[in-house]
Amino acid sequence: MSEHFRVHGGARLAGEVDVVGAKNSVLKLMAAALLAEGTTTITNCPQILDVPYMADVLRSIGCEVSVDGDTVVITTPSELNHRPDAVSMGKLRASVCVLGPLVGRCRRAVVALPGGDAIGSRPLDMHQNGLRQLGATSEIEHGSVVAEAEGLHGAQIWLDFPSMGATENILMAAVLADGTTVIDNAAREPEIVDLCTMLQQMGAKIDGAGTSTLTVHGVTSLQPTEHRVIGDRIVGATWAFAAAITRGDITVRGVDPHHLDLVLDKLRTAGAEITVYDDKAFRVVMNERPKSVDFVTLPYPGFATDLQPFAIALCAVSDGTAMITENLFEARFRFIEEMMRLSADARTDGHHAVIRGVEKLSSAPVWASDIRAGAGLVLAGLCADGVTEVWDVFHIDRGYPEFVENMNRLGAQVERVAAAPSR
Ligand code: EPU
Repeated sequence: MSEHFRVHGGARLAGEVDVVGAKNSVLKLMAAALLAEGTTTITNCPQILDVPYMADVLRSIGCEVSVDGDTVVITTPSELNHRPDAVSMGKLRASVCVLGPLVGRCRRAVVALPGGDAIGSRPLDMHQNGLRQLGATSEIEHGSVVAEAEGLHGAQIWLDFPSMGATENILMAAVLADGTTVIDNAAREPEIVDLCTMLQQMGAKIDGAGTSTLTVHGVTSLQPTEHRVIGDRIVGATWAFAAAITRGDITVRGVDPHHLDLVLDKLRTAGAEITVYDDKAFRVVMNERPKSVDFVTLPYPGFATDLQPFAIALCAVSDGTAMITENLFEARFRFIEEMMRLSADARTDGHHAVIRGVEKLSSAPVWASDIRAGAGLVLAGLCADGVTEVWDVFHIDRGYPEFVENMNRLGAQVERVAAAPSR
């Protein structure tokens, strides 16, 4: 039986919280370390389960990896094994990002299909098509992506959708390809910019980071580097929503507020006072019952799908009715079933959900289905009467460093209840 959290309802969260590096950046930066022989150091890493999981993936192909506090040191050998361990691959989604670097360096990769959150179908067609256009073959065989290339050459690649993972894999294969690659309709997330910055420090020639057209001039080799991960905007936004939902007052440090421009604007519309201090801190104060706001998830700079559970939790206790539209992952509305256990008034129809705000939620046992759903249920539990038990919290541990500790520092009462020993 897994651990669970006991969340006592009725808290008003107030204080300051420090946010460290982004999960969805550090894991890709670890994969990028494969592109250069030698020792790469990554700092400001979050202490979450996915980091040691990714370290195991890299070790299984010949790297030495040490994880010490917020620092990850990766020593990449001259010869890499092209077949990472399938069990390690299956523990997280970001493991798929070793595909591009392996094809770039070894011209061969047999990469088991990754694991990760059960938030809907997550095909790899765009990753594969991109590699094919760079000159590799790519097929799914016996549960693995099998890719091979005599040599990689530059290409013009149009993505059907600005996928983060496809952009990252194609980018990391293209940096060592012969000639120029242009990736159009590329993802623009700050984590993509962070990856481009590290690759540039390693000697890659990339133009257009943060725009939808990335131009990569291939080089013959890259050098190891030292890089500090950008702050986690999704974790930062989680605390911003926590302030709004509990009618609290939270200052978030360590995240660039401009990565959250749209999110903070939505919270302002819901009635929050927002103060942006500099490029590393902002404050969210909510003194009244929030007003309902509509949310539509889209790739960056749109409203992130990862924040959709928090938007639902907010609207569940807001004044009015809101429409939430999910455009990326169809199964993310599974979260709403759990919210209904907490007596949220919600209906879904396809990729739309209508949420009618209620004054107070009612505590119940609920189950986290992914990282963000788990955190969203804890936020909802904070405004339920009584004690809400949130189960399957290993999901939360995959993405949030010191989640319970931070909650309690801000004035919540959340207890981690250890798993019963198995007989
Ligand atoms: N898609 C395809 N074909 C592909 C690739 C993607 O159809 O080849 C579709 C997906 O099914 C989805 C959309 O494109 O509908 C976007 O997927 P994307 O590839 O951008 O997502 P991802 O790279 O698999 C990352 C984050 C997710 C985050 C999404 C969207 C990591 C490890 N994961 O996933 O984060 O929700 O981008 O922003 O970076 C989380 O942190 O909790 C999380 C799930």
